[in-house]
Amino acid sequence: MIKVITYGTFDVLHFGHIRLLERAKALGDKLIVGVTSDDYDRTRGKINNQQTVSERVEAVRALGIADEVIIEEYDGQKIDDIRKYGVDIFAVGSDWEGKFDYLNSICKVVYLPRTTGVSSTDIRSENRMIKLGVVGEVPLLRKFINESKFVNGCKISGLCSQNKEIAEEYPDLDLITDDFDKITEASDALYIASHPKLHYEQIKKALQKGKHVICESPMALSVEECEELFALADEKGLVLMDAVKTAYSTAYARMLLLIESGAIGDVVSVDATCTSLRGNDKADPDFYKKNWNSSCDWGPIVLLPVFQLLGTKYKDVRITSSFADEEKEYDSFSKIDFVYDKAVATLKVGKGVKSEGELIVSGTKGYVYVPAPWWKTDYFEIRYENPADNKRYFYQLSGEGIRYEIVAFIKAIGSGRVTDMLPREITSAICSVVSSKRRIEI
Ligand code: CTP
Repeated sequence: MIKVITYGTFDVLHFGHIRLLERAKALGDKLIVGVTSDDYDRTRGKINNQQTVSERVEAVRALGIADEVIIEEYDGQKIDDIRKYGVDIFAVGSDWEGKFDYLNSICKVVYLPRTTGVSSTDIRSENRMIKLGVVGEVPLLRKFINESKFVNGCKISGLCSQNKEIAEEYPDLDLITDDFDKITEASDALYIASHPKLHYEQIKKALQKGKHVICESPMALSVEECEELFALADEKGLVLMDAVKTAYSTAYARMLLLIESGAIGDVVSVDATCTSLRGNDKADPDFYKKNWNSSCDWGPIVLLPVFQLLGTKYKDVRITSSFADEEKEYDSFSKIDFVYDKAVATLKVGKGVKSEGELIVSGTKGYVYVPAPWWKTDYFEIRYENPADNKRYFYQLSGEGIRYEIVAFIKAIGSGRVTDMLPREITSAICSVVSSKRRIEI
């Protein structure tokens, strides 16, 4: 009996896939099909799959061509599988020509001509091309524009910025403007990263014009404004998403799941720090007015693990700040202390102050240690009393999580359903803490 094996993602199954599978089957007596897992696809940069691995496996199985369907989860698995199943022929489309020649030493490798004119990428993009307008002044805009290129189904429609330096870097964009109405007009959806003081008005305007919005956190500077915006989005049937890219980092998300499944027992304390030095603030008299303060810039990020692990119903919060300006709007350092029923959290944010940017979550059985910079990490450890029990975890992080955040936004627009990565009560709680005027001054 001749055994044939082939691998693929097989997202939104199409005619090209079916022809490939039929020809692979015809090469022998038994066909094994390896379908890539969602995790494995992420590590190889395939982030746009429309279907989950179980949906893709079901679709391949339902064709009735494969005799066995397996899941491909790691680099090098093909060698393992070929040996394990006693495979005679490895078959794959000609777009992979030469890439699998290394398997020739253990089986025969056949490249089958790829069917022209059809691909999963094309089918996904056909669904709808969202015109995404980008608004704001911060360097984060550059990352957002670059990362959007990895996402199927969206295209940058233009840039609205008061920052001429950033605007000049994108001469190829269809629209460069400093007029918010113009960018809104030219877009289906907006990414807003302007100064936090402008968020509420800009989001409201965009929603009223029927545009979806993703906005850098904090979305607004009070709970009332935040809730008003969510209500408006619901009334208009639009997506309104809070953007905290850390929520979309794979390592961070896996760390939360491990903690939730009891890996360190009950959580007793969350300690997180995010700081950065700022540019030359003396040169520009309006520096403190134009730039994000510590609470708005770093606050949403340090608050994220606290609210995700301990919830938003804290018993008490105490914020201690040191201000750099006379108006006391720009905190260059803040320490935020939460008291919960059975836990505490201590957070530090700074702009113009530098400290170790680590995250430690302490529990009754052990603790999680995420080294600096924890908000864009690919690595963490779970540590126990006995170091021999310690575990290390590594997950590939591409684009600091921004590209996954854009994928989530585009998917939400397509399905009308926002994923629960950042529940609304967390967005509201973030707005409440970062804008709090009740601070002890040092
Ligand atoms: N394939 C093919 N003809 C096509 C598309 C895919 O023969 N028009 C083959 C590939 O060469 C591979 C298998 O089908 O052997 C699974 O391919 P996959 O990567 O899942 O499909 P694509 O449509 O190429 O997906 P994407 O656009 O996401 O890269």
